[in-house]
Amino acid sequence: MPIFRSAPRAHALSVLPDVACSQPVSAAATRSGRGRWTFFVVALALIGSASTVAASPSTSALADLGRKIFADESLSASGRMSCATCHDPKFAHAQNNALAVQPGGANLDVPGFRAVPSLRYLNVDLPFFFAGDGTPTGGFNRDGSANTLIEQASRPFLAAHEMANGDAAGVVDKLGRASYADEFRGLFGGDVFARIDDAFLAARYALAVYEATAPELRPFSSKFDLFLKGKVKLGAQELRGFAWFNSPAKGGCAGCHPSTRASNGEPPLFTDYTYDNLGVPRNAKIPATADPDYFDFGLCGPDRSDLAARRDLCGAFKVPTLRNVATRKVVFHNGQFTSLREAIEFYVQRDTNPGKWYPLGADGAVRKFDDVPAPLARNVNTGEVPYNRRPGQAPALSELEIDDVVAFLGTLTDGYDAATDTADPARDLAQP
Ligand code: HEC
Ligand code: HEC
Repeated sequence: MPIFRSAPRAHALSVLPDVACSQPVSAAATRSGRGRWTFFVVALALIGSASTVAASPSTSALADLGRKIFADESLSASGRMSCATCHDPKFAHAQNNALAVQPGGANLDVPGFRAVPSLRYLNVDLPFFFAGDGTPTGGFNRDGSANTLIEQASRPFLAAHEMANGDAAGVVDKLGRASYADEFRGLFGGDVFARIDDAFLAARYALAVYEATAPELRPFSSKFDLFLKGKVKLGAQELRGFAWFNSPAKGGCAGCHPSTRASNGEPPLFTDYTYDNLGVPRNAKIPATADPDYFDFGLCGPDRSDLAARRDLCGAFKVPTLRNVATRKVVFHNGQFTSLREAIEFYVQRDTNPGKWYPLGADGAVRKFDDVPAPLARNVNTGEVPYNRRPGQAPALSELEIDDVVAFLGTLTDGYDAATDTADPARDLAQP
């Protein structure tokens, strides 16, 4: 994990941890790794402005505290739900079950709205923005509704369908009684729990540092990583799958899930952090869909409201990393598919055989793109490979080629053990 110690530090922010720098955030800067810590600077400056911040907490002390907060079930209204309940470290920090959405709230019976994304290989520093060509990019959550990890962490603590604390005071009260409360005071000041807003911000700050720096969240320990380092070979089927994945004439997958090193030399993350509309079928297993007027439109709402007028963006969701995707029991924003193979079949057969994926409408015709009202169906990507086909044409990948791609995606699972040719993300947790 690169730590940007060489960056000049701002004079006024001398209480900051070593990693802080004062580079401005811009798309170009963040892509190359600079500017990564700007949002942390702002957060700690805010906490510090209230006086008694202890001597500059180190990144590792903050990450250690963040790791404890992440796993602490007592921080929820139920007393039985932590961040790790939904983002299970053993499942690459994603959900460990095949439910479309997780139940939260005081009695763990309030259903959520989206499947849980993995927190491994997160973009840690890229706020939501429109690129020069208008492409929505960056941000946190599947709709980019949060600009920073600190901002993001408010929702799980407070939302009725997650940890359901209702307000910051509820969270801070619980933090004050946690086993690590003294550690918290040591980092943020003896009176920190009396300063509710500061304490809530400090907790989210520690979580953000954990999410951005913990080695177990970016282990780069997959078979594919060892292959890139020249330490192992991929099998014949895996190599074929890699070729179909990259080929613009076949899967075209790398167009949105890049498979080559970034300009800063970082191994590929298999996401370009942009947004796209795949026309994933409506998932009746999400209780909210019982209301026929309910639609999760991603970028254009309902969770975020600032882009509600951009009807052209309705239905677009963030491109997730494909690292560890083979360990997911559900995929896509609405958890519609429960196997990787099915998800890839959907990609390549959506347009050649729509009747396999969508229900029939009242008129007996296939209701293609049934998770958006008809006028918004035109937003679905129907131009790019592998979506450039018509009914009756051959799919971009044959059944055998789909198997190859599934095999390749399996090489992206962390915790690879060459002796047994198996991978398990839990292996990265032994020595965090
Ligand atoms: C009840 C399950 C649940 C709990 C508990 C939970 N999360 Fe999440 N988390 C989700 C879901 C679902 C999403 C996707 C939400 C969306 O797209 O709007 C998510 C998204 C995220 C993201 C954004 C990831 C991305 O790809 O942009 C981060 C970061 C995150 N959670 C961190 C946390 C932290 C920190 C906690 C504890 C304070 C936490 N989560 C607790 C279910 C949960
Ligand atoms: C035009 C951009 C684009 C292309 C091309 C593309 N994807 Fe995706 N992919 C996305 C987006 C956007 C999502 C998230 C969609 C959602 O959540 O509804 C996604 C999600 C996925 C997921 C689910 C991951 C998860 O954690 O839920 C898999 C698996 C996947 N893609 C594999 C592939 C494969 C294999 C190919 C090539 C056959 C491919 N993708 C081509 C944009 C793309």
